[in-house]
Amino acid sequence: MKKCLLLILICSSTVSFAQYTDAKMNSFISGLMAKMTLDEKIGQLNLVTPGWGIPTGSVVSKGVEDNIRKGNVGGLFGIYTPERIRKAQDLAMKESRLKIPLMFGSDVIHGHKTTFPIPLGMASSWDMKLIEQAARVAATEASADGLNWAFSPMVDIARDPRWGRVAEGSGEDPYLGSQIAVAMVRGYQGTDLSKDNTLLACVKHFALYGASEAGRDYNTVDMSRVRMYNEYLPPYKAAVDAGVGSVMSSFNVVDGVPATGNRWLLTDLLRRQWGFKGMVVSDYTSVNEMINHGMGDLQAVSALALKAGMDMDMVGEGFLTTLKKSLQEKKVTQQEIDLACRRILEAKYRLGLFEDPYRYINDERAAKTILTPEHRQASRATAARSMVLLKNSRQALPLQRGGAIALVGPLANDKNNMLGTWAVAGDPQMSVPVLEGMKQYLATGNIRYAKGANITNDTNLAKKANVFGTRVEIDPRTPDDMISEAVTLAQSSDVVVAVVGEASEMSGEAASRSDITLPDSQRKLLEALKKTGKPLVVVLMTGRPLAIPRELEIADALLLAWFAGTEAGNAISDVLFGVVNPSGKLPMSFPYNVGQVPVYYSQQPTGRPMDPNNKFSTKYLDVPNEPLLPFGYGLSYTTFSYGKPRISGARMNKAGRLTVSVTVSNAGAYDGEEVVQLYLRDKVRSISPPVKELKGFQKVMLKKGESREVVFEITEPMLRFYNSDLKFVSEPGDFDVMVGGNSKDLQQMSFTLQ
Ligand code: NOJ
Repeated sequence: MKKCLLLILICSSTVSFAQYTDAKMNSFISGLMAKMTLDEKIGQLNLVTPGWGIPTGSVVSKGVEDNIRKGNVGGLFGIYTPERIRKAQDLAMKESRLKIPLMFGSDVIHGHKTTFPIPLGMASSWDMKLIEQAARVAATEASADGLNWAFSPMVDIARDPRWGRVAEGSGEDPYLGSQIAVAMVRGYQGTDLSKDNTLLACVKHFALYGASEAGRDYNTVDMSRVRMYNEYLPPYKAAVDAGVGSVMSSFNVVDGVPATGNRWLLTDLLRRQWGFKGMVVSDYTSVNEMINHGMGDLQAVSALALKAGMDMDMVGEGFLTTLKKSLQEKKVTQQEIDLACRRILEAKYRLGLFEDPYRYINDERAAKTILTPEHRQASRATAARSMVLLKNSRQALPLQRGGAIALVGPLANDKNNMLGTWAVAGDPQMSVPVLEGMKQYLATGNIRYAKGANITNDTNLAKKANVFGTRVEIDPRTPDDMISEAVTLAQSSDVVVAVVGEASEMSGEAASRSDITLPDSQRKLLEALKKTGKPLVVVLMTGRPLAIPRELEIADALLLAWFAGTEAGNAISDVLFGVVNPSGKLPMSFPYNVGQVPVYYSQQPTGRPMDPNNKFSTKYLDVPNEPLLPFGYGLSYTTFSYGKPRISGARMNKAGRLTVSVTVSNAGAYDGEEVVQLYLRDKVRSISPPVKELKGFQKVMLKKGESREVVFEITEPMLRFYNSDLKFVSEPGDFDVMVGGNSKDLQQMSFTLQ
């Protein structure tokens, strides 16, 4: 029956989807559009959410069912499961006049029901295959749950850890961020969008959303074009080059004009310069929010967005309610409406929805493919490889299986916070707490638990962190009672493992913090534990870099676990007990304190470089210029030693290439993986060059005692940058090339580009 309706609709054909060419798609869509009324065309531009599940914005759509029947809806988001999606698709396919299938989106950000580590965590793996595979698993599950569109990857460069959404992206660096953008697009979209296990990806938030002033979410952004092109735009462009099917505009202004209504951004740059062919969707009510930006009334801002190149209006219904009037008043053209409608229909066509609107709706597949042991295993492995060992002294880690362990801390026996922010479909109750994970490795009696502290004692903060369910539970006991229970336990144990950090909703959207330290309650707990003199292993869960100089000092070992997802407790235990040797490296610098922010490795040099003996040089009176922990930093249970790097020549012409090689040896007692990093510095150029920029990395596995030569190639395109005329050029001259295991500890050589 479904097929029949469809066949009537497309008036063709026995041709399978794979055989369609663009010409066929165009003629199919032209045929369909010829039958559409103006209202039906505008209806396609409307993306709604009926508000089921975790809310992802402040308002929800009303009258959704009726609007689908009337042909007033192009797509839905915020619902999943075959049953619910079928119900909505039935309304479109059985009760609307033209029976145009709906598309179904969702915030599939780090997994679907099997939740993977937060994106900033996955970025720490520096492992593109792993990240692609995580996106693939997410696509497999989400598509089995009826979805065909992921609002991911988020690729906003973020250098301000006050901004809670740093958790959702890949950190501070455009090169690493671009590689990850590509891996994720590949993972979601695969090679054929019409397959029933792939999703249309949506790169977001275009553009510059991560540069909001003072790290306050939704705040204004202002930056030079050279910074924009060189540092902030590359990951979006990489996603476009990788064939991402959709782009979401950001909430902020770009050069004073909100991204959602910015024609330079959405048309001149995205489509004309970059050649993007897919569809553009607004962010949640970002069309309407242009009223607050001072761009006019709803009719004016909706017209502004459409004319800028916006195709689909998320939730706000400005398009739905005003475009017809704007057309009558000649404020927009029929051609503009048609173009937006065509792009949405093209996305549906590519997803195979015209061939089978129900292709993603399959109860059997949902039952078989969601939260499977294999997917959980993939999440566990990804999580373990996303953790970053920040300190390991007194051989505190890995833990010995025979000793008595005091497991303490508010996140040590917790399910509610393991998934991290933006786990829309994840069920916290399916997650593994650390206590449970550790029990696998220890005989009963060898592990005892005490909460020790609340995540925070601040009831106001707790209330804000609990908006999507309980994340912070304030214990009825006094803070002193809780600490003393933990201390007593520590005193009678061989080692203390303290699991501390943020509640998951203390980072993420609309979760900016001006104070990025560990809450007081937990700092006091750590100080008290330190006084016991027992080896202190700290496991840190956080969605952002925190200012933790004191914690780094007093911990014997510090493992950054981020928010590790469904398998958190298992993965953390795998690392603590040395079954997995940590290999993550920081994708974002950790500051000493919030006053240093933004602090990132690829700084511009100043005219007065830091000189402790010169008052009038660039520095703080109270903290170093350098971050506490630099970009690219992370330890292993083994030690890697670097030989003297070699470069194949001192000169290179534009068509030539040089190789840089370095021998890396595993000099310690464990097999392990090292991320070998390559940085370049252009010494003299027409715009002031950053002190260094990541240009390559390789993650290599070395058995204990093994040495390997790691080779990088340098070619002219790697030396290009956007100059003052925004031309992507290289300039002849001298370059430094640096290799090493993080952005600070590097060995340097040089060459000349002729
Ligand atoms: C607002 C967020 O900014 C965006 O990332 C998300 O995709 C939408 N809400 C939809 O939930």
